[in-house]
Amino acid sequence: MNAIEVKGLAKKFNGFAAVDGINFEIKEGEIFGLLGPNGAGKTTTISMLSTILKPTSGSATINGFNLATQQNDVRMSIGIVFQDPSLDDELTGRENLDFHGRLYGVSSKERKEKIKAVLELVELEEKADSQVKTYSGGMKRRLELARGLIHMPKILFLDEPTIGLDPQTRRKLWEYIKRINSEKGTTMILTTHYMEEADFLCNRIAIVDKGKIIASNTPEKLKQVLGGDVITLEASEPESLKKVVGKMAGINEVTIFGDKLNVTANNGSTVLPRIIKVAHDNGVSIRSATLKSPSLEDVFIHYTGRAIREEEADSKNAMRLRMRVGWR
Ligand SMILES: Nc1ncnc2c1ncn2[C@@H]1O[C@H](COP(=O)(O)OP(=O)(O)O)[C@@H](O)[C@H]1O
Ligand SMILES: [Mg+2]
Repeated sequence: MNAIEVKGLAKKFNGFAAVDGINFEIKEGEIFGLLGPNGAGKTTTISMLSTILKPTSGSATINGFNLATQQNDVRMSIGIVFQDPSLDDELTGRENLDFHGRLYGVSSKERKEKIKAVLELVELEEKADSQVKTYSGGMKRRLELARGLIHMPKILFLDEPTIGLDPQTRRKLWEYIKRINSEKGTTMILTTHYMEEADFLCNRIAIVDKGKIIASNTPEKLKQVLGGDVITLEASEPESLKKVVGKMAGINEVTIFGDKLNVTANNGSTVLPRIIKVAHDNGVSIRSATLKSPSLEDVFIHYTGRAIREEEADSKNAMRLRMRVGWR
């Protein structure tokens, strides 16, 4: 069964199509990403699928429930981590989790167990009884992740889960997200404007721009549109390495230039370790190896003629956060 099915979903704000008729399906257990620049319609999409916003047209099924007619069932079967922080700073981490559990009607005994389990999962046991205002940005985000899991949802919605975090903290958060997905089998739909994030986390990605999905596939397949990866090797015996590498599966072309070897392959990241092993098995020593692959940024440029450009998106986002206060 598909965890999510979306058909012709659209949202207009005073005639402006923020989401302009999108279609996609997410399989159970998948991490599916909506990747696109600021203003692409990602949050609007998430808001519709989580019953916060009413679609202008189109339909969706979430965990088998009809978004239009079974809103309560949809709500109970999903967890959400919002783009904008939504914790109570004055409460402790544990109190925030407990409050959320009560909202979802989780029994007192079960709340205790679940809270313990999710705190362990995001490694916040020691901070659990401190007020959230004493938490770092990364810890707050981890607590929000934990909160999204208290009622054991089958699907977790993550709207820009690592926005504004430093690269190291972001990486740490990615680990938790992966762990939740693999340990609990939680299906995830996440939005991001960070290429590496979508690339690292997602099984499949829909690239969105101006309310439309312009391409959708696995990260690898999306990048293959631009041609193969290039592996450059500095080896002790390039000629003999060329011979053995040329016979390997998954290799497109092997060229020698100077004392270096250029190998093109559709999937360089799986081929490179095999090349190194083959070289070792044949007594060839490799002094250096570089792998260059097209990035999702290149894919976005390929389809739109523009770059996503993170710095710009971040500052625009800060502005939107301020503007948003007046919206609801
Ligand atoms: N409540 C609203 N009223 C009017 N316009 C909105 C509202 N919410 C979003 N928009 C507009 O819809 C577009 C998509 O916004 P959003 O879904 O937040 O994009 P993203 O999350 O991809 O950055 C933007 O142009 C935004 O300004
Ligand atoms: Mg957004």
